[in-house]
Amino acid sequence: EEPPAGAAVPQAGQDDLVLLRRVGVVDPSSLDDYRAAGGYLALRRAFRLGPAAVIREVLDAGLVGRGGAAFPTGRKWDATARQPDHPHYLVCNADESEPGTFKDRVLMEGDPFSLVEAMTVAAFATGCRRGYLYLRGEYPRALRLLTNAIERARERNLLGEDILGSGFDFDLEIRRGGGAYICGEETAIFNSIEGYRGEPRSKPPFPVEKGLFGKPTVVNNVETLVNVLPILTGGAAAYAAVGTGEGGSTGTKLFCLSGTVRRPGIYELPFGATLRELLTLAGGVPEGRELRAILLGGAAGSFVRPDELDIPLTFEGTRAAGASLGSGVVLVLDDSVDLGGVLLRIAAFFRDESCGQCVPCRVGTVRQEEALHRLTRGSGPADVTLLRDVGRAMRDASICGLGQTAWNAVESAIDRLGVFATGELSPQEGSAS
Ligand code: NAI
Ligand code: SF4
Repeated sequence: EEPPAGAAVPQAGQDDLVLLRRVGVVDPSSLDDYRAAGGYLALRRAFRLGPAAVIREVLDAGLVGRGGAAFPTGRKWDATARQPDHPHYLVCNADESEPGTFKDRVLMEGDPFSLVEAMTVAAFATGCRRGYLYLRGEYPRALRLLTNAIERARERNLLGEDILGSGFDFDLEIRRGGGAYICGEETAIFNSIEGYRGEPRSKPPFPVEKGLFGKPTVVNNVETLVNVLPILTGGAAAYAAVGTGEGGSTGTKLFCLSGTVRRPGIYELPFGATLRELLTLAGGVPEGRELRAILLGGAAGSFVRPDELDIPLTFEGTRAAGASLGSGVVLVLDDSVDLGGVLLRIAAFFRDESCGQCVPCRVGTVRQEEALHRLTRGSGPADVTLLRDVGRAMRDASICGLGQTAWNAVESAIDRLGVFATGELSPQEGSAS
């Protein structure tokens, strides 16, 4: 039996929230409920403003991508809107696969109409008449609810031709991923939709110029798109007043709390809260346990130590601390966790998910896992040196983000947590095999 939509949202029902406001509160299958809770006001305002002014609002709000890379959304929209080549396509990246990431799932299951509305606004601003929602294959409930939302929107002329008498035509379809992590990489999504192997393409050219079917394409993450709604309903200035404003840290952010924490789930906080505040909100580690480390930003992110909890959760703040916010993963590990086992699991994940297209990643991820196996069994510093060499080659020479970041977590475990510092792990950590 499926848990209720708000189950992963400890803050459900809190109406001071921006993104989670409706999650766990409205019926996610009812368009009437969505409209009664403020739905479709943003699209109406977009139609009044016109495409260029919508892009201006998104630029002024300072919105940056929430998939992990934090690229300015307004710049992406503007670059696509200006392309003379047509048609333009909109792709929503809903292939949420970063280990520990489940924020988009909560939005899609709890408030699916908001994504349909936000995609319509994005399409209007950037001149797209066709959109694709590329959904992680392992999200059957989101598929059901989004399919329903699209059908209900079509019935009420919120999708299709001449939407609400605006003269704007737009429709969208869902494409399901087949379980490959790499198909969350934006150019691999294009290949997947076009019917080819899910392998990343070299960038540049960037999708805004040459994307799906070789045409200008906007690709946005689910959480990014949903942020456009409060920007339009409340205005860019009000939106930008929340957060720190540094390096794109305006508004609020969804954080995915998992691991050995008392109240796991999705939390929404303004940018600038500290890791300590977030951990406290989630109840901290279980009674009688000590915090050992936090994996911030996902498998492609980095570990931070218990004495680094005052890091501000902003793009700038985490970067300055040598970490990354990534897709908002906060994976908590207490002193009962086998850290060697966690590193081996991450290495196996990257080895398994490498598409194999380029040598540094295809071979490097295998060598990384082998060296980690030897180290967890007590081999010496030569394997740490090997890990560094392999990691550097992957970072510098891989085609896409998977290979470029596959060594991040291991590197941070060595440099920040001191794992393998003496050439051997503690007996507990060395028990992984
Ligand atoms: P990227 O930095 O290459 O690009 C980010 C976005 O900005 C892309 O849409 C790209 O097309 C666009 N862009 C960059 N430069 C541009 C330019 N000059 N002109 C126009 N557009 C430009 O990063 P990438 O590889 O797309 O994403 C990496 C991130 O993805 C990582 O930070 C990682 O945390 C995250 N990630 C998230 C996952 C999830 O499940 N949410 C899964 C795996 C990775
Ligand atoms: Fe494929 Fe890895 Fe190369 Fe990316 S870095 S293209 S996943 S082999």
